[in-house]
Amino acid sequence: MRQLQLPLKDNPYTIHIGENLLNDETLLSSFCIGGNVLIVSNNVVAPLYIDKLNEKLGDKTVHQLIIRDGEVNKSQSSYFKILDYLIGNNFRRNDTLVALGGGVIGDLAGFAAASYQRGMNLVQLPTSLLAQVDSSVGGKTAINHPQGKNMIGAFYQPKAVVIDTLTLKSLPEREYLSGIGEIIKYALLGEKDILSILENNFESLMARDSKVLEALIYFSCRKKAQVVANDEKEQGERALLNLGHTFGHALETLTNYSYYLHGEAVAIGMLMALKLSVHKGLISADIENRYFQLIASFNLPVSVIPSFDTNEFLAVMAKDKKNQSKAYRLVLVNDSGCIIQEETDEALLTSVIESFNA
Ligand code: NAD
Ligand code: GLY
Repeated sequence: MRQLQLPLKDNPYTIHIGENLLNDETLLSSFCIGGNVLIVSNNVVAPLYIDKLNEKLGDKTVHQLIIRDGEVNKSQSSYFKILDYLIGNNFRRNDTLVALGGGVIGDLAGFAAASYQRGMNLVQLPTSLLAQVDSSVGGKTAINHPQGKNMIGAFYQPKAVVIDTLTLKSLPEREYLSGIGEIIKYALLGEKDILSILENNFESLMARDSKVLEALIYFSCRKKAQVVANDEKEQGERALLNLGHTFGHALETLTNYSYYLHGEAVAIGMLMALKLSVHKGLISADIENRYFQLIASFNLPVSVIPSFDTNEFLAVMAKDKKNQSKAYRLVLVNDSGCIIQEETDEALLTSVIESFNA
């Protein structure tokens, strides 16, 4: 098992990464404090792992609440279902809520924990690759509003993150590769170890080898933890984690969140950011090509289907909540990692985006 600290001043915690950690009774019981534990999961993940987890929580009274699978259920009604359960069963602030699932469950249950009695004990047990390398770490929690994704939420740190690499064995292939898309982001942010693991371990990664995954997840979480430790509430540096996301969110919005998985949209978004960075003289075309090959090798999309209207694409980008002026605020790539730049050249942006139209 590997461990990493997230050294926040008020809420420091440890990220535990290893094989079969859902079987580690001592580890799990040490974070699940209080007499009552509520495990929130969904109807896909719960049948696979919830009984095993239940058994390991020994002397606690363990409750279970199952939400229906899917982003559409990161909703106000699911949120109130969790709160109703906590209130109805007299949970206290120092009882524990465990989020067992992908990013949807982590964000939803995390926000319920953040707001129940102004904050109860939370443990994140992420089971998708995306949740293991991104959403479970750093304390962003949220639900969606009919008018926008992640519109209601809070920064709320868990007491611990426990990542069991064996859970990835049951993850559908497309979801797994989408998680690799998010990992490639950390390579671009300057984690050289990640680039070399990804380029040199294709077969092991496709076979979901636990040891290789453990290393990859460790380096990804280490990068995320470094950034969050410096800028917990996204006043500056944390925005770098949005590399590829402004372009990616535009793609997800234009396709109604029903065509691309998040990591797939981010993969195309990173390629757009790389191309723009080449045009601006920040990196050489060799770097863009290297990442193009890497992204394509993991069967992630490298062009956009269905085709789109570039003006609509730019209009969605302009609404991005990171824009602070009329310029497009973008994360670009340079030789030592990433930087945030204001882009005002619409003609350049248009030609970059258009070149991905299939
Ligand atoms: P998800 O939670 O919907 O999981 C993807 C699919 O995989 C679901 O069908 C899920 O049931 C299934 N699944 C998860 N683990 C499994 C396992 N071990 N075996 C079999 N099936 C499994 O989606 P996601 O990609 O994990 O997360 C996306 C969500 O995360 C979005 O809502 C996004 O907004 C959020 N997010 C949050 C942050 C953050 O910092 N909080 C960062 C990135 C993304
Ligand atoms: N996923 C981006 C962040 O946590 O800030």
